[in-house]
Amino acid sequence: MLPLLVACVTPVADLPAQSDETLWTDARAVLDVNCARCHTAGGQAPSFDDAATASSMAASMVAAVDAGRMPPPAPETSCAPYENSDTFTLDDAEIATLRAWADAGAPTGAAVADPPPVTAQSAPFDAELYGGQPYTPSFGADGNDYRCFLLPVGNEDAVFLTGMEALVDALPIVHHVVLFETSGTTGIPSDVEDPTQGFACSGLGAGGWEFLGAWAPGANPVIFPEGTGMKLARNAQLILQMHYFDSFEGADQLSDQSGYGVHLADSVERRVEQYPIGPTSFTIPAGDSAYVVDDSIPAGDPGLEVLGVWPHMHVLGAGFDERVVHSDGSESCLLHQDGWNFHNQVFAKLSTPLRLQTGDSLSVSCTYDNSASNPQQPKDPPEDVPFGEETGNEMCFGFTYVVDAE
Ligand code: HEC
Repeated sequence: MLPLLVACVTPVADLPAQSDETLWTDARAVLDVNCARCHTAGGQAPSFDDAATASSMAASMVAAVDAGRMPPPAPETSCAPYENSDTFTLDDAEIATLRAWADAGAPTGAAVADPPPVTAQSAPFDAELYGGQPYTPSFGADGNDYRCFLLPVGNEDAVFLTGMEALVDALPIVHHVVLFETSGTTGIPSDVEDPTQGFACSGLGAGGWEFLGAWAPGANPVIFPEGTGMKLARNAQLILQMHYFDSFEGADQLSDQSGYGVHLADSVERRVEQYPIGPTSFTIPAGDSAYVVDDSIPAGDPGLEVLGVWPHMHVLGAGFDERVVHSDGSESCLLHQDGWNFHNQVFAKLSTPLRLQTGDSLSVSCTYDNSASNPQQPKDPPEDVPFGEETGNEMCFGFTYVVDAE
């Protein structure tokens, strides 16, 4: 169900009269929590930073919220409670606040400073690792450019990654970022002299690279629970894979030097692993408005706990579902969302880790709308769309973080 109708039943009339100052201060707070991660200067959506611009858009903000377009569809909290769900959707009180401000003519008081630029949310880091130099993408005919950078961590002993946050530089051209770990020169072409300076790479990464984490528009940092982390090798070598995409006039003029901020610990009590769950071979038929693909893996080591899921599809996604299927046929919901917006791919971190039992499996299914009536449909007329990393292809993954049994 889209949260369309909730907005209409809020009794705004009962609110006490408020000063312009209060109306604006309250509205600003709602925008900062729920909208600013995308609607900011240099971001992917029109900036609300400037008070006058925010005011001029007040009516369309309320309309977009009422219609369920904004904020974009996110994991539903009726499936499972998530630690970070306050930024997923607006609650009734937040909607009432925006509406009261808009109805009063969207005043802007002098007292509210423009929000600080959106910066790293989980800083300070133990290390900030960047590509060796700014890079100006050279887009192929299909608009894609994949560039990888070797990021040496410089740790003399094994270390544990307890959290990570992409530090994205040129937001408008970055389609997604993946962080891998490699060992030695695995996956690095032999003619590359200095891989820290960047090299051409495949969208699928390379055999032997281990997926650690990823970023796509709207993503938030991945921070593992106290006392847990992913093991990195001695002198760990990370690979930053940048996927640049040319989507507007002038994109080829921008340069980028993105990186990752990492949180590290010498030891942890329990290890985190990441399972990429999803089918890697499918074709979505042209014209099908509800095509479902799925995959599941056995995950029955008793004591394993699921920490959270990072769902990933491209633009034709229409719904995502991941659940634990127990041996008696019952299910526990891990992530469910009706609706999908490529610009909103959040890591849904469970408030309480979910403990797996013997015989459980983890099951992912993705629904795609490849019809002409999908507003996100890039092709006219629709074409068959195969699995693949390119923007014009589709993927279906639940990147699932699991922590070892105690
Ligand atoms: C995850 C990123 C993201 C978040 C969070 C987000 N937006 Fe948007 N918004 C976009 C993008 C991208 C566009 C432009 C493309 C589009 O329309 O989908 C947009 C467009 C808009 C538009 C103009 C187009 C329309 O649909 O009317 C309005 C108004 C808007 N957003 C309001 C909001 C408000 C209000 C919030 C917070 C309550 C919000 N958005 C949260 C990404 C986001």
